[in-house]
Amino acid sequence: MTKRPTFPLMRNNIARADLDAVIEHLRQDDPILTNGPQCAAFEVEWSRWLGVRHSVFVNSGASANLISMALLKLRHPAGGEVIVPPLTWVSDIASVLQNGFTPVFADIDRRTLAMAPRAILSRITPRTRAVFLTHVQGFDGLTDELLAELARRGVPLIEDVCESHGATHNGQRLGSFGWVSNFSFYYAHHMSTIEGGMVCTDDPVAYQQARMLRSHGMVREANDVALRDTWRGENPDLNPDFIFAFPAYNLRNTEIGAIIGRSQLPRLDANVARRTRNLQRFLSRIDARRYQTDFKLDGSSNYAFNLIVNEADPLFVDRLMATMREAGIEFRRGSAGGGNQLRQPYLRGVVPADHHRQFPHTEHVHFYGFYIGNFPDLRDDEIDSICRVVNAA
Ligand SMILES: Cc1ncc(COP(=O)(O)O)c(C=O)c1O
Repeated sequence: MTKRPTFPLMRNNIARADLDAVIEHLRQDDPILTNGPQCAAFEVEWSRWLGVRHSVFVNSGASANLISMALLKLRHPAGGEVIVPPLTWVSDIASVLQNGFTPVFADIDRRTLAMAPRAILSRITPRTRAVFLTHVQGFDGLTDELLAELARRGVPLIEDVCESHGATHNGQRLGSFGWVSNFSFYYAHHMSTIEGGMVCTDDPVAYQQARMLRSHGMVREANDVALRDTWRGENPDLNPDFIFAFPAYNLRNTEIGAIIGRSQLPRLDANVARRTRNLQRFLSRIDARRYQTDFKLDGSSNYAFNLIVNEADPLFVDRLMATMREAGIEFRRGSAGGGNQLRQPYLRGVVPADHHRQFPHTEHVHFYGFYIGNFPDLRDDEIDSICRVVNAA
């Protein structure tokens, strides 16, 4: 058996009460297990919490990304450019490619780890179809200037909030600014439904399309009766229950996931507050001469503690990793997505060789950035121990 780390990336993300809620459901005679009323109720409660009109519960954050890009493709079948970060999860870029768009990369701002607003704006061309911004590890990646400029230029914003649940900009929850937004409920995230994700929007057309895209492109999945009737009227030769509007996917989640999500949601705000307190304790205790501490903290909802070495010192970073391993501190080098996506094999031939070198801030995080666990039941004395270890490296 492998030894569990003393300081893991996550602990106890699915509570006894969540499991008991599932057991309660299973005690019924013939309980519904596939996508059903629990999923619908979770979508309503999530939308209310987030402050959007509509949400569609899917089986992962990557699926939420995929649906978002498929929605964009329905509006731009001939493709175009989507501005994306090099520091993100693979599915943010894979979904762009899978839907026939060209990813255009913008380097990050070191204080938020999200794309720098100036870099985004400088990449907008007549072929730009959307900005697909990832809020990295709980930091607010928005600025008023960015929002105003995108609105002025008519470029839709799609927010990936998969690792930033509960973070805010000017007091308003991230994920309620963009045309569409995405969340993940994978295990180590702010909330977990085992696997899971959400696509959120105020746009009634995108909502109906997302419902269909989630489920084979089937018209009967739309819950707008008039829309269903239109499709049925235009296709009289088809069985009304089997009209496939788009070439789509099966990305549905189940009642089990929804029950866990509904049980967790009431705890989310308290958990976010705890994560934020933990972050502040980390930042007050790590050695600011060695590690970055000037993050944008306003509105943040920390996902994991970002340990970013100030100096590009390969020897120090090797020593730091050895020290953390020795102390049982679990870590991921390069931040959540493994660092600079432009170095990954799946982008060879898609972007020019050595393109990654044009993104120095992302390159720095790739080699000198780590994330280590921050979660609601991480104790103060554990944070203090972690800081003592990394300060002594
Ligand atoms: C920013 C971001 N987007 C998308 C995803 C994909 O989410 P999932 O693992 O639920 O597919 C993740 C996962 O960690 C993520 O961090």
